[in-house]
Amino acid sequence: MTVSTKDDKRATTPNGLDSHDVAGQVVEERQLLVASNRGPVTFSQRADGSFSARQGSGGLVTAVSAVLQGQQAIWIAAAMTAGDRTRAAAAEEAGETLITPHGSGSRFKLRFVLPTTEAYNQYYNEISNPLLWFLQHYLWDTPRSPDITHKTWEAWREGYVTVNRMFAEEIIRACDGLDTEPVIMLQDYHLYLCGGMIREMRPQAIIQHFIHIPWPDPDYWRLLPAEMRRAICEGMLGCDIIGFQTPDHARSFLYTCEAYVPDVGVSYGDGTVTWQGRTIKVAHYPISIDTEAVRRTAHSQEARAYERYLPTYFNEFTILRIDRAEPSKNIVRGFNAFDRFLEAHPEYKNRVNFIAVTQPSRMDVEEYRDYLDDMSATVGRINAKYANVETGWQPITIIMGESYPRVLAAMRWYDVLLVNSIIDGMNLVAKEGALVNERSGVIILSEGAGAALQLGEHCLMVSPADVEGTAEAIHQALTMPFSERQRRGRALRELVEHEDVREWFRDQLADIGALVQSRQSQ
Ligand code: F6P
Repeated sequence: MTVSTKDDKRATTPNGLDSHDVAGQVVEERQLLVASNRGPVTFSQRADGSFSARQGSGGLVTAVSAVLQGQQAIWIAAAMTAGDRTRAAAAEEAGETLITPHGSGSRFKLRFVLPTTEAYNQYYNEISNPLLWFLQHYLWDTPRSPDITHKTWEAWREGYVTVNRMFAEEIIRACDGLDTEPVIMLQDYHLYLCGGMIREMRPQAIIQHFIHIPWPDPDYWRLLPAEMRRAICEGMLGCDIIGFQTPDHARSFLYTCEAYVPDVGVSYGDGTVTWQGRTIKVAHYPISIDTEAVRRTAHSQEARAYERYLPTYFNEFTILRIDRAEPSKNIVRGFNAFDRFLEAHPEYKNRVNFIAVTQPSRMDVEEYRDYLDDMSATVGRINAKYANVETGWQPITIIMGESYPRVLAAMRWYDVLLVNSIIDGMNLVAKEGALVNERSGVIILSEGAGAALQLGEHCLMVSPADVEGTAEAIHQALTMPFSERQRRGRALRELVEHEDVREWFRDQLADIGALVQSRQSQ
């Protein structure tokens, strides 16, 4: 990285972007407007009226916060909590349109979209999560669900469409008054209609949309009524560039457009869609982690404090999993595979502990509450089956709650990291584990995780429904010669070190820059 000085024309930004390359020029010349449902922080109001801000959770927020550090970007997000709404109202009262999220250290600013509680509930808890997330992770038991009813349509029109329109209008307000056309970077499945709405209001807009989650085949999209799936595709085609995590998901999107959007032209070779006189680029940009920050947190004082009590959960062998309590993570099957492993290899009783660090998630959605219950019931059953009262051994422990330093502290010590998701856009847990683990631990990775494409060669791969195969993989991992574990561990670490999250950002900006240049030369 070049050292930056005030008048050095080749200076790099804090993100390592070089002002001489196309990506660097984009951020130097244009305002970045990033929009996502969840913002970088959630606010709470203290008794004295002041506000405290807590960093938002999840891969999207972590990745985007990392790449925006040091950028003078504007981040537009929904007010998700009462604290967010009060903070937004306080800003309005003070005549501020922009909020500084983390205090004076941050250069990016925040603008809130303020839907009514009811509209937000319909958009987030009825459409985005139980419908779109479930569809895009193949989570339905299709003979029984979903049922698209008048209630779904109501939530679509009054929630999803309404909140997307509010985002589009807020983004347009942020564009107004800027001398140069800004770059709009939309994030994820909550905002599928936004690109089209912005394009209608501002035909010259530069819009990119990155989808963090998988994109299923067109056959599965047929479970949504034609009007909805077409609105989603056409909304996205309002953008200039649409990014996915993997080439497979990008290709599925092209198939879906070809299947459901009338008068569309699809070029699989170029990865483009032509529609209504415009050409839209469809590409893949695998997301990653901020390697420096992850290492720093893993060795921070807070993480070190956990070293005092975490070892009480470890054993001769330790299997770890880290997830939100989320059906797509396939946690229950992972426990069942461990049960099967203990049945087949009783010599491991008393010697191996399975630790699941779990964060409850989306508890307003029934399916998530039920899944958490299923997890607890399965752990209860397995522990009752094997627990040894004499030695005090209990095979599975769930550690509940949200602490990133604790997660990273635990990752340093696993022998096996189990990532058996049904399907995952990427799965950053696998990348974090590969980077910070210090025991040459083996990663058992689902073929359905986007990370499989980059890391698969050095992991033990499993098919997500294959309980027997996953049990065998656990056995293979625990009996693997140490030299083999070391070889795999080293290869995984090097791979992750070379694909930092900044690459993900830089590659997207480079494509946006190329688009801007080609527009200017027309
Ligand atoms: O961060 C991972 C992720 O799966 C993103 O793709 C998505 O936007 C986000 O989680 C949604 O999570 P939540 O509902 O907690 O905001």
